[in-house]
Amino acid sequence: MNDIYEPLFRPWKIRNVEIKNRIVMLPMEGTNMIQWEAKTGFVKGIDRFYRDRKDNNIGLFIPGLIPMISIVGEKWLYKHPEVFKPVKPVVNEIHQSGAKIFFQLSAGSGRSMLLPPTLRPFIKNGLLNRASSKVLMTKWWWSAPDPGEPNVWDPKVKMEEFTTEMISRFVYAFGQSAKLCRDAGIDGVEIHAVHEGYLLDQFAVPYTNHREDCYGGSLENRLRFACEIVREIKKVCGDDYPVSLRYSVCSMTRGFNAGAVPGEAFNEVGRSLAESEQAIQILEKAGYDMFNCDNGTYDAWYWAHPPVYAPLNMNLSYVEHIRNFTSKPVVCAGRMQPETAAKSIAAGRIDAMGVGRQLLCDPEYITKIKEGRLDEIRPCIACHGACLPFNGLNGKGTDIDPLHVEMGRCVLNPWTNNEGRYKKTSAKHPKKIAVVGGGIAGMEVAIQASLRGHSVDLYEKSGRLGGVFNAAAAMSFKEKDRELLQWYGRQLNKSGATVHMNTEVKDLASLHADIIVVAIGAQPKTLPIPGVETAVTAVDYLNGSTEVGDRTVIIGGGLTGCEIAYDLALKGKHPVIVEMTGNLVGAKGICMANSSMLRELLRFHEVKTYLNSSVESIKEGCVVIKTPDGKISIPKDACILSVGYNPDKRFAPDKEKKKTEISAKTYFIGDCDKVGSLKTVIRQAYDLVQDISY
Ligand SMILES: Cc1cc2nc3c(=O)[nH]c(=O)nc-3n(C[C@H](O)[C@H](O)[C@H](O)COP(=O)(O)O)c2cc1C
Repeated sequence: MNDIYEPLFRPWKIRNVEIKNRIVMLPMEGTNMIQWEAKTGFVKGIDRFYRDRKDNNIGLFIPGLIPMISIVGEKWLYKHPEVFKPVKPVVNEIHQSGAKIFFQLSAGSGRSMLLPPTLRPFIKNGLLNRASSKVLMTKWWWSAPDPGEPNVWDPKVKMEEFTTEMISRFVYAFGQSAKLCRDAGIDGVEIHAVHEGYLLDQFAVPYTNHREDCYGGSLENRLRFACEIVREIKKVCGDDYPVSLRYSVCSMTRGFNAGAVPGEAFNEVGRSLAESEQAIQILEKAGYDMFNCDNGTYDAWYWAHPPVYAPLNMNLSYVEHIRNFTSKPVVCAGRMQPETAAKSIAAGRIDAMGVGRQLLCDPEYITKIKEGRLDEIRPCIACHGACLPFNGLNGKGTDIDPLHVEMGRCVLNPWTNNEGRYKKTSAKHPKKIAVVGGGIAGMEVAIQASLRGHSVDLYEKSGRLGGVFNAAAAMSFKEKDRELLQWYGRQLNKSGATVHMNTEVKDLASLHADIIVVAIGAQPKTLPIPGVETAVTAVDYLNGSTEVGDRTVIIGGGLTGCEIAYDLALKGKHPVIVEMTGNLVGAKGICMANSSMLRELLRFHEVKTYLNSSVESIKEGCVVIKTPDGKISIPKDACILSVGYNPDKRFAPDKEKKKTEISAKTYFIGDCDKVGSLKTVIRQAYDLVQDISY
């Protein structure tokens, strides 16, 4: 192990519980042992998730949040001790490996609650019409400190009041639920959360709490609910039972559905740093033993769920600052990098490094650090594509069904939270496989198939592996994407596949193989407008074919167009976006943390955008567009076309002729089959290798 990482492996204590090192696996829904929202019980198969990680040098595990009460049907957790029974063997295994485990107990979401689509038809005049809804969401999930508060996901929908009677029943439930945890051998609990704009946080901050009772007004009053909870737990479980608090140091919030971005001077409507200095002392005095920290609210979600645009270690300076105001240990979360965390720990500025998504992506992450195998780490690219694919349009709605959304999986590692699905053993009948195309789909097939004992030849027509992902990774803020490309290169090298670079396959029939996998990607779309031939495609621009000047008009305000605009703005240029629909970054499957941060960054950098606008023509020196207010001409010195892709169908089986000529079984995967995402491409590759191996 490199010495710089040594501080990460020093033991520490939370109350009387010794933790073997400074690595905390952060709570992530999808890693819960108990599934409670929809049905009652142990999460089938989750033991395999923990088995993959328990011997991999994680000091403290905190599985995802467990609500005190079910969303539908008013079942209280503490009245169901039987759900803890199957938890015990997993907890024992974790203990045997020397790690500890805390359960995160949640007071719920308040106005951050996503309404399941089954209930959306029952909204009338902004209120949920309970009498006529067939599936009742309990009032506990549909209430917030202030009645009439707008829901985060759909501000037209208003919340009901979380009454004082509800508060006292909740406080009692926390005590009893914590007791069940203690009796099940769980080493401590974490309260969720004066954090991220969840219910307790809505009580704690001024912009969502205008109550006039003893739970509103002064800071002490706003924190009263959170303080009563810890006191109750200590009363029931004993003073020594550790209670952590998930805590946002600052809200970073400008208003409803309006977040601040790093470096922005703004008016904080939530918890300011100055108020946080007071708050943490009040919370410590009430009994909290640890603070698991970052920043943000659901209105500034990307501080708690930092996407690719978020600087690495984004929350660290805030967490280091707040540690000066408490004697209890603090953990820092949010794209933490081990070198930086180790330094901060060694200097006594934080106590532990929180790691979330990187442990979904690579269960052996910490072991690889410890053993100096850094170049084997599969880097998390903060895409949220399979761990948190909650798309949302900052108050303009979402299609997500909270009861059925996939969570806690990983785009780059389809094995995570799907541990039974793919075999890792050698293929029954190893085959000779030819892979055409060295993009992510082709490389993934080549790697996975080689690992299963197939003999693989991969043909890439250019001199560079990675395909269109090279363009996606080109922007200045995509350092983790570039690391991922390098990781793929190394994995491919090690896999034993034979790679033929600069080798264009013109005819599949020329390949001698049992199986041919075509993974040749997609071609950029164009538009039928005069002058379009003078525009450069997003891919060509990102691959470095063209330099652009100060005023670039980007046609298409989807993910790529907006990322290019942000990148140009970072370079001090003044791009303009023209988008046909009413939203920037409106595609499904993009997490709201990612899309809202990108929109806020474009706002902060004053990137001019024209929504509901279409391009009529591209002329020398200007682009003529039709906006809702009429036709205008925008001056430009370059124009980038970012309007999507069409599958490259050059080998598509038209083609009776080809079918007879090619004796090998042929598969089309990735974007050349159907334009998708990194998630669809990688999953298709895994699925294909599974199919052809067993
Ligand atoms: C899929 C997913 C689910 C999450 N669920 C929870 C949760 O249940 N409770 C919580 O306090 N934080 C939750 N978080 C936030 C993480 O604990 C963590 O703070 C965040 O991912 C940033 O850390 P990272 O950059 O290391 O991933 C979740 C994050 C993800 C990605």
